[in-house]
Amino acid sequence: MLESLERVPPDPILGVSAAFAQDPSPDKIDLGVGVYKDEAGRTPVPRAVRAAESAMLAAQSTKSYLSPVGNPQFNQRVAELVLGDGLGGRRTDLSLAQAPGGSGALRLGAALLTAASPQVAMHVSDPTWANHIPLLGSAGIPLSRYPYYDPTTHRVRFAELCDYLNTLPAGAVVLLHACCHNPTGQDLDLSQWQQIAEILVHRGLLPFLDIAYQGLGENLQADSASIQLLAKRVPEMIVAISCSKNFGLYRERTGLLLVASENAERASIISGQLGRLARTLWSMPPDHGAAIVAHLLGDPALRSDWQGELAHMAGRINDLRRALADTLSQKTQQDFSWIAAQRGMFSKLPLDAGQVRAAREQHHIYMAPDGRINIAGASNENMSRLTEGLAAVMA
Ligand SMILES: Cc1ncc(COP(=O)(O)O)c(C=O)c1O
Repeated sequence: MLESLERVPPDPILGVSAAFAQDPSPDKIDLGVGVYKDEAGRTPVPRAVRAAESAMLAAQSTKSYLSPVGNPQFNQRVAELVLGDGLGGRRTDLSLAQAPGGSGALRLGAALLTAASPQVAMHVSDPTWANHIPLLGSAGIPLSRYPYYDPTTHRVRFAELCDYLNTLPAGAVVLLHACCHNPTGQDLDLSQWQQIAEILVHRGLLPFLDIAYQGLGENLQADSASIQLLAKRVPEMIVAISCSKNFGLYRERTGLLLVASENAERASIISGQLGRLARTLWSMPPDHGAAIVAHLLGDPALRSDWQGELAHMAGRINDLRRALADTLSQKTQQDFSWIAAQRGMFSKLPLDAGQVRAAREQHHIYMAPDGRINIAGASNENMSRLTEGLAAVMA
């Protein structure tokens, strides 16, 4: 029976990492896979996370099952991190379920939507994180794309986005990147979020927020302001939270699904549904990463150390953005100041497939096939080589 299975084509982004690993050049630069890197090109475990891990393990007396919705302290503390103190006024109408990473949270949210309405349709940004499509599509939800990024002006196509949302039927689900848009780095500003909130309410649309980079754009507060703004305005919202990047816990699969609904009674029903759906997907979420985060966020000294480290990471990314924008503008005599204005780990260079290939083959610069670059893969040391190579392929 299994002979009917076809070979899966290589994943384009993971393929970039594999090709990078095989390149013997000492000058190679990896701007491919979306993980934070320090000046030396390493993806560190933050000091506070290591300390929280040791303390958590020393205190842990059992590894017996917790529950399908995971560790309640983790759920509560991460919800507060995203919604702010007082949980954005939604304290009584929240349902929380720990999930295996942001991806697991997205998948669980999709399962909840199909359980609520088999006819549900979802709208994602054009472009969006490549894995959104298979991840959400695998739940059986038809996906359409809303206008988002204009590669010529490097701005959000805001008027077109609003027009699009204004055509959607009530109950349509709109997937929005809360901050650090992947792959473009181009976020909505707060006045645009305000206008989006009004359209969502007016048309009865359901926002599904994806937040995978809180603290890596500006800071923890500014990067979650979109969610806090919506929480005050919309009756229902779903939020998929990843702790992979901001806690450096990538392989520990640490995430949370947060659902805000209309009242406590509805929230209690949704909590039960999330537990039931988690049982059908993974039964129980992995504990280790969540136990570390719960410990860290509950310890004021570790929390403040982690915030400092996170501020350093965001600062490094934003310094690199400015350096890249300035040097590239100088070397090409074109305007790349938009790179400095964008936020998070990604920007999308205006390169076609041939130029992306030339960057790799002639200059050992590796990036996603669509021109997405991970800014954190640049460094002060490689900035000159990097911009020389990019300028050469753009000439
Ligand atoms: C936009 C976005 N959402 C969600 C995720 C999921 O992250 P993870 O499942 O590793 O926590 C990522 C990871 O790259 C992402 O870029």
